Amino acid sequence: MEKTIEQELKKVKTEADVAAFHQRFLGKSGEITALLQGLRNVDPAKRAEMGAKYNELKKSTEEKLFKLQSEIREKAATEKLMQDPLVDITIPDTKSRRGGLHPISIVIREVEDVFANMGFIIEDGNEIATEFENFTSVNVPASHPARDMQDTFWLSDGRVLRTHTSAWQNYMLKKYGPEFKAICPGRVFRNESTDASHDNTFFQVEGMMVGKDVSVANLIYFMKEVLTAIFKKDIKVRLRPGYFPFVEPGFELDLNCLFCGGSGCPTCKHSGWIELIPCGLVHPKVLEHGEIDTTKYSGFAFGLGLTRLAMMKYGIRDIRYFNSGDVRVLEQFTPVV
Ligand code: PHE
Repeated sequence: MEKTIEQELKKVKTEADVAAFHQRFLGKSGEITALLQGLRNVDPAKRAEMGAKYNELKKSTEEKLFKLQSEIREKAATEKLMQDPLVDITIPDTKSRRGGLHPISIVIREVEDVFANMGFIIEDGNEIATEFENFTSVNVPASHPARDMQDTFWLSDGRVLRTHTSAWQNYMLKKYGPEFKAICPGRVFRNESTDASHDNTFFQVEGMMVGKDVSVANLIYFMKEVLTAIFKKDIKVRLRPGYFPFVEPGFELDLNCLFCGGSGCPTCKHSGWIELIPCGLVHPKVLEHGEIDTTKYSGFAFGLGLTRLAMMKYGIRDIRYFNSGDVRVLEQFTPVV
């Protein structure tokens, strides 16, 4: 019987052959079915052994037939496709989506590229910071009211989800000081309610340059270079005084609003300017915490809002889109290949 089955299987070439084969061996009055039914009359001592054998035969025959049937169907489908003049199977698949880069990742890469080209080291700080890193080392001692400027997520062990990338300043000073240029992009967290321009999780890039005679002129130069490279056009900036405990003097570097060109719109709150880069000269206390000799060295620091930068660059008016995971938003940045 096995031999016959093998021979007959070889002859199966079409769907009709499949059906005929099935009927002959596996159908209601098929040959294998008959074998199984015949077990009734077999000596009970041998029944189990033979039953197992016949069942095995049935199973393997079914599997082989199924495999043949799939091959026949696949071949038929391909042939049909090849004959259809409207289907060009050489056109690349444009429907299936592949993963792509999140707009924030795109902007981080661009920013890193620009800074790396200007000789900056790229650091990757921790998202969980000690109280010392996040506050004390950047001149915000325990009792200082400035701690309230940033609503903090405290962990039960006394550490925090870093409220700013400035938490990495002390590390960079100790690791690379007293003369270096470095940036540290990353995610930061604030315990605050969200609206179109605030989220509890967003991105910044911290930057520091420390050395002899580093001044506000260096700061402005680098900031303009970076923004011009990112927006690929000459942009206008302005400096205003700004208070941060870790810089002195401190500034807010504003970008001329790219939505309205400076005439005023809801995005720039009708001022024509967007607050983009808080910055300043590194406070001597911060340098001291970083074991830098303040009589010889000075530096600048900035905390560029990467999320805001991405909003400006791509015209995204609600910050909450970034962490929404909404594919309809994200796929606009994902080249469909
Ligand atoms: N860490 C500040 C913030 O998140 C920004 C900043 C960085 C300001 C460096 C000055 C210098 O608000």
